[in-house]
Amino acid sequence: MVLQDKIALVTGSSRGIGRAIALELGRRGAHLVLNHRRNSTRAMTEETAQELQKLGRRALVVKADVADAQDVVQMFALIQSEFGRLDILVNNAASAVFRPLLQLEEKHWEHVWDVNLRALNLCIKHAVPLMTQGAIVNITSLGSIKYMPNYGALGAAKAAIESLTRSYAVELAPAVNVNAVCGSLIDDTGFSEFISESEKAHWAQLTPLGRLLKPEDIARIVAFLCSDDAETIRGQVIIADGGITLKM
Ligand SMILES: NC(=O)c1ccc[n+]([C@@H]2O[C@H](COP(=O)([O-])OP(=O)(O)OC[C@H]3O[C@@H](n4cnc5c(N)ncnc54)[C@H](OP(=O)(O)O)[C@@H]3O)[C@@H](O)[C@H]2O)c1
Repeated sequence: MVLQDKIALVTGSSRGIGRAIALELGRRGAHLVLNHRRNSTRAMTEETAQELQKLGRRALVVKADVADAQDVVQMFALIQSEFGRLDILVNNAASAVFRPLLQLEEKHWEHVWDVNLRALNLCIKHAVPLMTQGAIVNITSLGSIKYMPNYGALGAAKAAIESLTRSYAVELAPAVNVNAVCGSLIDDTGFSEFISESEKAHWAQLTPLGRLLKPEDIARIVAFLCSDDAETIRGQVIIADGGITLKM
């Protein structure tokens, strides 16, 4: 298996894309650290851990707010004590306030920067000392390059993450390979719950692939970027959108 016995942390892996990524990395041989933020998502994260354990993988569930420096320090201390190292970090956790830009208050901007941007830097800063080699994959979205209604703040954070991906790719090379995966609308996720069925059907019909993407589509690309087969791909943003941006 291409990721045999790699140790991987996926932030925000209680559900949606993060959960699919964790399961895909596990299927390919990795042991997982599953991160969630809320007490209410503990049970579902434990269920994913059990699925991974059935595959013969180790799975550690860690409740941590990735925007909280103390939580992040504790999470990496736990990884150090349980596994002694880290090979893969997937920065997947995200949270935002979806409003037109002029309706965003100071606290909303702070939330978006903290959870999406400052958290990513915190996680990378604490991951790198545990990584003698490996891969970091950041999850972004089309809002980084395209206008999406009410998505301006998160879109700006995602654009910054794509820029950071390029800088980290150079600064952490050659040992750690850093890339990003930029998805379009992904079905069966927290975000897609806000999209009506008719809007989803419209997106699917506009998409050359002929359907909406699923969390598993993103997970397979992340798994590839974590493998040695992707070692020549550095600092890239892989757009996974079924071709819809070709028509935008
Ligand atoms: N869904 C889409 O259409 C889409 C499209 C393109 C890109 N993306 C990107 O893909 C990633 C996953 O999106 P998703 O839609 O699958 O997310 P989701 O279903 O809303 O789940 C969000 C995950 O992030 C966790 N999380 C949120 N804030 C956190 C914090 N402060 N600390 C730790 N964990 C936190 C949540 O934990 P709890 O469950 O404990 O709250 C949950 O596990 C995000 O980066 C998103 O921007 C999504």
